[in-house]
Amino acid sequence: MHNKTISGFSKLSKSKKIDWIVNTYFSNQDQAKTILKQYWNSDEKLQQLHDEFIENTITNYYLPLGVAPNFLINDRMYAIPMAIEESSVVAAASKAAKFWLDRGGFKTSVISTTKIGQVHFMYRGDTTHLKHYFNTVKPQLLEAVKPLSKNMEKRGGGIQDIELRDKTADIPNYFQLHVSFGTADAMGANFINSCLEQFAKTFKAEALNFEDFSAEEQQIEIVMSILSNYVPDCLVRAEVSCMVEDLSDSKTIAPEAFANKFVQAIQIAEVEPFRAVTHNKGIMNGIDAVVLATGNDFRAIEAGVHAYASRNGAYSSLSHAKIENGIFTFWMEIPLALGTVGGLTNLHPLVKLSLEMLGKPSAKELMQIVAVAGLAQNFAAIRSLTTTGIQEGHMKMHLMNILNQFEANAEEKINLVNHFKMHTVSHSAVVEAIEKLRQ
Ligand code: MEV
Repeated sequence: MHNKTISGFSKLSKSKKIDWIVNTYFSNQDQAKTILKQYWNSDEKLQQLHDEFIENTITNYYLPLGVAPNFLINDRMYAIPMAIEESSVVAAASKAAKFWLDRGGFKTSVISTTKIGQVHFMYRGDTTHLKHYFNTVKPQLLEAVKPLSKNMEKRGGGIQDIELRDKTADIPNYFQLHVSFGTADAMGANFINSCLEQFAKTFKAEALNFEDFSAEEQQIEIVMSILSNYVPDCLVRAEVSCMVEDLSDSKTIAPEAFANKFVQAIQIAEVEPFRAVTHNKGIMNGIDAVVLATGNDFRAIEAGVHAYASRNGAYSSLSHAKIENGIFTFWMEIPLALGTVGGLTNLHPLVKLSLEMLGKPSAKELMQIVAVAGLAQNFAAIRSLTTTGIQEGHMKMHLMNILNQFEANAEEKINLVNHFKMHTVSHSAVVEAIEKLRQ
């Protein structure tokens, strides 16, 4: 077991790292090396750029970058870049975009853009002394981060408020500095964390000089300083609506029946967590794909969105639908802390390209585009689930994946795609058909 451990791995060159990995963990070492090297970019500078995004890079891991065109958002057209490995997602987004293009498009608005960070600390003593100290030191806290916040203020962001929060009902002696930030077009993680760490330093240091404190009270213990990915006040709304009679474009279901079934499906996701999780997963199919394509942190978005989905104490649907006075409305409000400057946005050539495709949006515009991608995806999913079922579309895309797995050539693909227009796709049926064709 121990001959599989190594120290100083990070200091090895890329090729030495690969040597160690393939020698230690692979039986066919040449094959493993070939696969790893196949994914290197021949442009050395570009490869180095990717190598340096993270540590211990051995190769690149590709995701397809697709495009969903025909999105009309607030009367402006967009083609939306989507980085995702799951088949059907881009097709579904494109289909929903086209459907709503003919019905007035998507309407969106940014509700709020506040982000949160916290300094978590322990204080042992009289709470009124702490409150007094907090009010006294607050201007010094703000002064101490001036070198950091000056630039952000020029861009329209900065520190909005610092609150002292008493959390001793949850954990003895536990308090917080709860800070709200505006970060303009940046996601702002570095800005927020740097400010918080400075707050913590100043808050701890100045306590030693605060005369009302006893010796014990002066000893504030900082536990940690970090932004929160829960951003319920960084909210965007996306909506579509049309007359119920304009809803259906298929002959399989009447518009009224479709509208009712759609609303029922949403109600189920509102009350039933097992369904809500899958429902929201479908929304995240659209959201994550655009978040990734535009170089944003999809884990942060995921964590924040799911926390928001449970804000009322039970996990619930992010989207809602109603029929009122013959009008069908489908909407969603969702927290999205996104950036269009800083981070990967200035570094990754495909991120820059994606942002240019979207017309170099501000962070607020990107929030709206991403929310639309989520709503469109959800619309497409609920539409297939309540009409044809999800497998019809899915299996068509799945067919292509299986054909590629079997290295089907162009002619075989045409032949089998035609065959499966009349037959149900399943893994075994496709394998059987390929084998028969090749006999
Ligand atoms: C699959 O990736 C997403 C769906 O399951 C979403 C949903 O059920 O609403 C189709």
